[in-house]
Amino acid sequence: VETRISLARRAAVLAPALSASEEAHTIAFDSGHAFPGILPDMTAAAERALTDYRTETLQYGARPGVPEMREWVAGYLNADGARTSAQEVLMTNGAKHAIELVCRLLLDEGDAIIVTAPTYYTAIPLFRSYGATFIEVGQDSEGIDLDAIEERITWLKQEGRRLPKFIYNVPDFHNPTGVTMPRGRREALVGLAARHGMFVVEDSPYRKIRFEGQDEPSLKALDQDGCVLAVGTFSKLLAPGLRVGWVVAPPDLLQRMALLKSDGGSSPLLQRIVLEFCKTGGLEAHTLVARTTYRTHRDHMVRAVRRDLPDATMTVPHGGYYLWLTLPRHIDGDELAKRAKENGVSIFPGSKFYAGQNDDYPRNKVPPKNNIRLNFSHATPEEIDEGVRRLSFAYATVARQTGDAREKAWVAPSA
Ligand SMILES: Cc1ncc(COP(=O)(O)O)c(C=O)c1O
Repeated sequence: VETRISLARRAAVLAPALSASEEAHTIAFDSGHAFPGILPDMTAAAERALTDYRTETLQYGARPGVPEMREWVAGYLNADGARTSAQEVLMTNGAKHAIELVCRLLLDEGDAIIVTAPTYYTAIPLFRSYGATFIEVGQDSEGIDLDAIEERITWLKQEGRRLPKFIYNVPDFHNPTGVTMPRGRREALVGLAARHGMFVVEDSPYRKIRFEGQDEPSLKALDQDGCVLAVGTFSKLLAPGLRVGWVVAPPDLLQRMALLKSDGGSSPLLQRIVLEFCKTGGLEAHTLVARTTYRTHRDHMVRAVRRDLPDATMTVPHGGYYLWLTLPRHIDGDELAKRAKENGVSIFPGSKFYAGQNDDYPRNKVPPKNNIRLNFSHATPEEIDEGVRRLSFAYATVARQTGDAREKAWVAPSA
């Protein structure tokens, strides 16, 4: 809609887009939705929340969250190697809200942050709306490239510029690449941040959705200097509709973030429902269900890709929700996503996951276009088979067109 009112810069940098998964007959491999077949039954927990805890759940709540919920989250994280307490846990409306509060706390217009290339796409416009300048660094099979960070910091110091405020990272089953950082790289990352006086925002929604292998320590567990702000959520493990998450931060920062919550405080009702569910063993049991289900989905999708898209290469992730495919260099992921949608399957092109460099650092790399991300959590195994088949038809069309175009481009000069 045309409007003569000019938008705030914060709104103007956002590009609204409807998810293809909302369209009928489309198989959705795009967003990270839960598998509808395993959404947990939380009726008993909700009933208790609304009867036994009515005066708590239907009243304004404390800004930092329901005290018992904060205690529970601290215990949950400590069982996973952290050394934290309820005073350091701020409850939020999911992980994205936690990330936004970190932005509100730390970012002024033009402040630099470090992200991986590629990175979690929803965080990109969020960071951008707070005026962030992106420093993109690559990854290898062990995660974020620390040499690239050091190189960049050296340059910033030489230029007399301010250092980045934080490094945003997804260390477990990275979105979109599926990479999990081993312990050594984690220790080095936390050490680097502490040495240079930066925070690390550890965003790890898939941490417990591990299909095989051993857990690596969380960045928070390795944090000696209070430089890790750990973001968590019940979205991927239980249900994204709950909108319950948290951020762990030193108490003084936490108090400020609590004051920066424009809603006054996250819903006590939702926190109490989650808490009642967790306290009675629901989370533990559901974690096993999620792991088994999503492992089956992953295996199914890996088999389907190997069968129907033999040109694609991938590193099979040991957990999480996504496969990151690398296609032959000349295949354009954007074009493939468009064709795929026409063929009734929605995917995300790799280009969506690059923040783009928006400072004047000399080495400006163009992101590759030949990747796509496939979500395997949401579709049924049968839909996964059918979706990959549809994708293979779209791929054949794009490959043929690209081949024709290349042939023409080659023929033209001598014609
Ligand atoms: C890395 C990462 N962070 C955060 C989120 C969103 O979590 P929430 O639904 O709790 O806002 C996602 C969901 O896709 C994610 O992949």
